[in-house]
Amino acid sequence: MSIKTAVINGVATLEIARPDKKNALSLAMYQDLANGIRSANGDPAVRAILLTGQPGIFTSGNDLEDFMSRPPPGPDSPILAFMTALLDCDKPVVAAVTGAAIGIGTTMLLHCDLVYVSDEARLAMPFTSLGLVAEFASSLVVPRLMGHARAAEKLLLGDPFTGAEAVECGIANAVLPPDEVLRYARRMAERFNTLPPGAVRDTKRLLRRADRQAIHDAIAAENALFASRLRSPEAVEAFQAFFQKRPPDFSKFN
Ligand code: COA
Repeated sequence: MSIKTAVINGVATLEIARPDKKNALSLAMYQDLANGIRSANGDPAVRAILLTGQPGIFTSGNDLEDFMSRPPPGPDSPILAFMTALLDCDKPVVAAVTGAAIGIGTTMLLHCDLVYVSDEARLAMPFTSLGLVAEFASSLVVPRLMGHARAAEKLLLGDPFTGAEAVECGIANAVLPPDEVLRYARRMAERFNTLPPGAVRDTKRLLRRADRQAIHDAIAAENALFASRLRSPEAVEAFQAFFQKRPPDFSKFN
């Protein structure tokens, strides 16, 4: 099982646990994450959800083998189910970013409520270098958070950035030493045990209200392009290069 779930002291923890593949997210893992969020959201014993990874790796993002071999994500895709569950979750979602957070590993943080990052973590949204495009409203939320110029470095060039920069540009709340990030994030999640859940739920909804429609519109526009780009020769070259452990060659494309 690559997603471990546990409810302890009011906090439902969803732990990504596939260290041999750097916590790459397979379709089954997305479905487990979606189910885990939905079930925690409906469980009266749960006040907050904690998303975490393994020491040194939060997630290396989508399983690139799935990208190569499976059909493009449609309306019944587990990836969409996971992100929809995250976007629709009434309860606070806290992320403990224990290490590298790549692709959807960074994108999902944009839709969490509190984000704590290991000071050794690197975040990245290298979609263009994979022949892909931004996903799940990152093309909207990232420039809103940090302005167009810095968003272009992250989304057009795919430049990685540190936990400290994630805090500075508003993606994360705090940077912590690697062996403290999970404990700290859990402590913050447990704070919701002492707050009135109805007020927390309504405030979360209000915080997200103004952007809700724009986020759904952005996701629809991104998904249409993402699905066709997944089959593009540029993406095929990028995926093959990754598994052949060589740099991709985009020189023949125009
Ligand atoms: N999908 C599928 N397999 C992945 C993966 C992914 N996203 N990320 C890592 N793996 C696999 C590697 O193929 C390798 O498998 P192998 O041992 O069978 O060869 C194993 O996990 C270890 O990865 P490796 O690249 O050797 O580890 P590293 O420590 O040198 O680098 C990363 C770690 C995360 C920086 C690197 O694996 C990486 O860049 N992964 C791809 C990130 C990415 O592009 N994600 C998609 C974003 S949309």
